[in-house]
Amino acid sequence: IRVAVIFGGRSSEHAISCVTAGSVLDALRNGTEADRYEILPIGIAADGRWVLAESPDGTGPRLAIADGELPEIGRPASAERASLVTMAGDPTARELTVHEPGSVPKSLGEVDVVLPLLHGPYGEDGTLQGLLELAGIPYVGSGVLASAVSMDKEFMKRLLAQAGFEVGPYEVVRPRDWATEEGRAAVRLAVEELGYPVFVKPARAGSSMGITRVAAPADLDTAIEVARRHDPKVLVEAAIPGREIECGVLEGVDPLDRPDASLPAELRVTGPHAFYDFEAKYLDGTTEVDIPARLTAEEIEDIREQAVGVFETLGCEGLARVDFFYQESADGGPGRFIVNEINTMPGFTPTSMFPQMWQAAGLSYPALIARLVDSALR
Ligand code: DAL
Ligand code: MG
Repeated sequence: IRVAVIFGGRSSEHAISCVTAGSVLDALRNGTEADRYEILPIGIAADGRWVLAESPDGTGPRLAIADGELPEIGRPASAERASLVTMAGDPTARELTVHEPGSVPKSLGEVDVVLPLLHGPYGEDGTLQGLLELAGIPYVGSGVLASAVSMDKEFMKRLLAQAGFEVGPYEVVRPRDWATEEGRAAVRLAVEELGYPVFVKPARAGSSMGITRVAAPADLDTAIEVARRHDPKVLVEAAIPGREIECGVLEGVDPLDRPDASLPAELRVTGPHAFYDFEAKYLDGTTEVDIPARLTAEEIEDIREQAVGVFETLGCEGLARVDFFYQESADGGPGRFIVNEINTMPGFTPTSMFPQMWQAAGLSYPALIARLVDSALR
């Protein structure tokens, strides 16, 4: 099976996508089914250029965090490796083509499946999925609509609320709302009504990029400006008191089977962080994880059922990780789960939750990747 692994990308999660790809490439190459795959690693630089991320001898860029330094797909060291890859014009050819500067385009041959390991806009949001649909190449994960809706926290919440899932209260700040002093005053008033503290987030981003916890009105404007650097549309969410619990969802190879839910996991941030932010997620090892989360058997069934329900409501395919807040009930009965968000291409880094949750459920990392590839080929 010829697998093109695409990673990096134009979003602020570029480096995390590289770390995800480093782990997945390792699993493809060293897992028990390694001889089934021929791998074509393709990086997308932060400026959007597509490059063959590895020379034929298998040497490539560093795809891991080393001493706190984040990896990046950039201008390759040697001119020969500076290849631009695009889709062939013929959608039945399932081909990728390399355009090396100053030479004739060269076909990389037929690709059986693409693993689009991109996080955030221009990759996890339906745009790359649209390109692959046009090129006729099967790919792992959700299609155009589910990817786009799941990336946009406003539309995700609208659809989930409409389907009866509990989501937290929020305000949307669109560019026009923030363009005039009158508009900004209305936003501040609406946020007062939500009640502080609030979380200010870019509508479409991930890995906590651009997110600020705001405890008092004086800090609201700055937080909105920070989020606007990532996305002109911003969400202000009421802080939900409660424990953070995540659950993985995975489709089977038979599309008529109901998707499976993993065991839920709980995250506890132990360091000096106001929340589960970028540093706590990837850099300083201050997040502790319980798998399974400490919940009753009834609550575990409830969250697993809700995770699959969220996946199906948004029309997801392949895989997703659904993140919840859990609130204990006052009377000792089962607690409530409030949906925080969904990730249609969750991280696969060494500290990421999705592969760990499946490992706890008995599915090894290489077996998980093999199942994803197979589900895209069905
Ligand atoms: N957006 C990051 C990669 C995650 O959800 O794991
Ligand atoms: Mg996310």
